Amino acid sequence: MPLPLSPSYASVVAALRAAGCVFAEDEAELLLGAARTPDELAAMVARRTDGLPLELVVGWAEFRGLRITVEPGVFVPRRRTEFLVEQALAAAPKASVVVDLCCGSGAVGAALAAALGRVELHAADIDPAAVDCARRNVAGHGGRVHEGDLYAALPGELRGRVDILAANVPYVPTAEVGLLPAEARDHEPPTALDGGADGLDVLRRVAAGAAEWLAPGGCLLTETSERQAPQAVDAFTRAGLTTRLAVSEELYAHVVIGTN
Ligand SMILES: C[S@@+](CC[C@H](N)C(=O)[O-])C[C@H]1O[C@@H](n2cnc3c(N)ncnc32)[C@H](O)[C@@H]1O
Repeated sequence: MPLPLSPSYASVVAALRAAGCVFAEDEAELLLGAARTPDELAAMVARRTDGLPLELVVGWAEFRGLRITVEPGVFVPRRRTEFLVEQALAAAPKASVVVDLCCGSGAVGAALAAALGRVELHAADIDPAAVDCARRNVAGHGGRVHEGDLYAALPGELRGRVDILAANVPYVPTAEVGLLPAEARDHEPPTALDGGADGLDVLRRVAAGAAEWLAPGGCLLTETSERQAPQAVDAFTRAGLTTRLAVSEELYAHVVIGTN
C-alpha cells in the first residue's frame, strides 16, 4: 500500500496492517518516533512492509530497559531472554566476573552489567558480525568482546573465576530451522539458530566445559525449550553441576541453571 507524501499515524498503521504486521499500532508509534523526516519514515515503512524485522528497521531492540544496537546478520535479542538475566541476577547477585558466551548483540552481558554495576564483563561469539555489534553494546559497561569458538575465545586468566556464565546458545533442531517465522529464517544467520540434530549440540559443549571456567559457587545459565529441558538438565548434571530448571509461564521461557 503506497504511503501519502507526509504519512500520518493512520496511514502508517494501515500500511503495516495491510502487510500483516500484528502489532501495527505499536510499530507505527515506534517508526513515527524514530524517523526524522517524512522521507525517512516512508523508507522505514517500506522496509518493514517488505518483511525486515522492526528492530533492524529502527536499528535497536529494547532489552531490560536498554536500547541494544542491532545490525543486519546478528540475532535480535528476544524479550523471553530477559528471564535468563533475571535468573542469573537472582543466583549470583554479587557477581563480579561475568561472561556472555554466544553473545550475539551482547544484550545479555550489557543487561547483567547494567544491573550489577561494576563487573568485569567478557562477551564472545564465533561470528565476526556479532562481535562487532556486541562491542558497541558492551563498551559503555567496560566490557571486552572476543571472537572464536566457545571457550577458545576467552582469555585463559578467566579460568576458575567466572561468577555468571550466561550462554544463550542456538537451540533450534536443524530440521526445524526452516519452520521458524520468516523474520528469523530470512534475516538471522543459521549459526545463531541451528543447534544440531536435537538442538542441543552447542549446549552440551558449553555444559561440558563450564566447570573449568566457573568460580566456586559460580553458575552457568542457558535457555532451552520445554521439550529439550530434560536432556539439557541431564547435560548440566553430567558436567558435574548442581542443576535446576526455572520456568516463566508468562514469557514461555525455560532456563537451565547449573552451579559449580
Ligand atoms: C541464539 S543467538 C543468542 C545471541 C544472544 N546471546 C542473545 O541472547 O540475543 C546464539 C549466538 O551464538 C553464536 N554461536 C553459535 N555457535 C557458536 C560457537 N561455537 N561459539 C561461539 N558462538 C557461537 C551465534 O553466532 C549467535 O550469535
